[in-house]
Amino acid sequence: MIICSCNVISDTAIRDIVTTTDVTFGSPAQVYDCLGCSVQCGLCSRSVKRILDERQGETAAAAVWPVQAEPAPCALMSFA
Ligand code: FES
Repeated sequence: MIICSCNVISDTAIRDIVTTTDVTFGSPAQVYDCLGCSVQCGLCSRSVKRILDERQGETAAAAVWPVQAEPAPCALMSFA
């Protein structure tokens, strides 16, 4: 789906650049810089920010995951 109609950028292109680079994007403008364009009308900034937030959430969850790798025993499965 096209996220930015001014630059004709899809959500897939944004997700690709956010997930395949080692750059930590702090703002939508940095994503545009990396894609070789710039923000024009700004209507897409909220959507780009949402994608960045999703990515940061995935990264944070991945960092926490090894701590939770061993699932806690379920109290309902106890037959004591
Ligand atoms: S829609 Fe992205 S800059 Fe206008």
